[in-house]
Amino acid sequence: MSQPPFRLLPNPRHGTPGIVVLPEGGYRRAREAITAWPGYTPTPLHDLPDIAAALGLGAVHLKDESLRFGLGSFKALGGAYAVARVIAAELARLGIARAATAADLESGRHAETTRAITVTCATDGNHGRSVAWGAGRFGARCVIFVHPGVTQGRRDAMARFGAEVREVPGNYDDSVRACARVAEEQGWHVVSDTSWPGYTEVPRDVMQGYRLMAEEALDALRAPPTHCFIQAGVGGVAAAVSVALRARYGRTVRLVVVEPDRAACLLASAEAGAPTVVAGGLDTLMAGLACGEPSLLAWQELERAAFAFAAIADEAAIAAMRRLARHDPPVVSGESGAAGLAALTLVARDEAARAALALGPESRVLLLSTEGATDPDLYDRLVKVGPVDMEAP
Ligand SMILES: Cc1ncc(COP(=O)(O)O)c(C=O)c1O
Repeated sequence: MSQPPFRLLPNPRHGTPGIVVLPEGGYRRAREAITAWPGYTPTPLHDLPDIAAALGLGAVHLKDESLRFGLGSFKALGGAYAVARVIAAELARLGIARAATAADLESGRHAETTRAITVTCATDGNHGRSVAWGAGRFGARCVIFVHPGVTQGRRDAMARFGAEVREVPGNYDDSVRACARVAEEQGWHVVSDTSWPGYTEVPRDVMQGYRLMAEEALDALRAPPTHCFIQAGVGGVAAAVSVALRARYGRTVRLVVVEPDRAACLLASAEAGAPTVVAGGLDTLMAGLACGEPSLLAWQELERAAFAFAAIADEAAIAAMRRLARHDPPVVSGESGAAGLAALTLVARDEAARAALALGPESRVLLLSTEGATDPDLYDRLVKVGPVDMEAP
């Protein structure tokens, strides 16, 4: 069977000095808040010895976000946390409560005020679900902007939390701009998972929430990883994982940032040496990764901390979803969630890529399956139907 084409770009600026993107104090605050939410429990870390053996690696570990707070993706950690912070800041500004906690907000004590607050974001599905969930829990109104490519299943999931879902033309990046424009006109609060010059405070909170996923994974590992493959849309989660790895292990872990070949804006940025936009339809099945503009904060971390950038085709992600579905025990991993395993499979089987990353029988690789079946109909279609022209590990 053939392997789909892929690209691997060793990062020319790996190891150069840079700024602190996620301060430790902000992470401690996020961890304290989120671990106190009802239903919080660390998600599982699976050992995949059969996959490690098939790829000639020492160990492969996979963090499984399919059960995160019942929302099916790690995004539950970021958007909802940032919504709580935005509402608490607004209550403080109005002189109503100095430091309202999530529990205060959920009690409905400030409902009269929070009802008048509107939070908004653009989404491919998972971030919007988290923001809608947070707004529902903490008593705010929520409007979510989607582009025409967002599936009905993902729209319905947001509407179930009480959000108004508005479609706007263009791709994900166009919906980000439409959201920012309408929010400005209406006085709404943008809770974006991407950042840009002049808008970093809220996305920083979103990323601090994501960091908890990485810290849970590192807590559960018996030995430090040698490599970590993490998928990227705007790069927020990859940067949060990178910060967590560096805080514990310095520069010893080789971080590979994985993107769809049709939306590889971080790879393009690394190649150009500056944030670079990939335009067009960003036509990929990996919906959560279909972003053409890197997040400023993410770029500031990854431009120096990523060891390499990889771009993969949709077939590779589907093959990895199927491989995880047939694992014993099975792991439910969605199109975007399985991208890390897809990239690892491709590079581990390519002599030059394997050498460039120093992958071998001593390697211990950490993967993060960042979503489960966040669109169950699509998941079933991709995992259960039709052939895929790629050999899985
Ligand atoms: C399942 C999943 N994985 C990874 C990502 C990428 O996250 P980021 O946009 O922070 O790079 C997303 C983004 O929506 C996602 O939904």
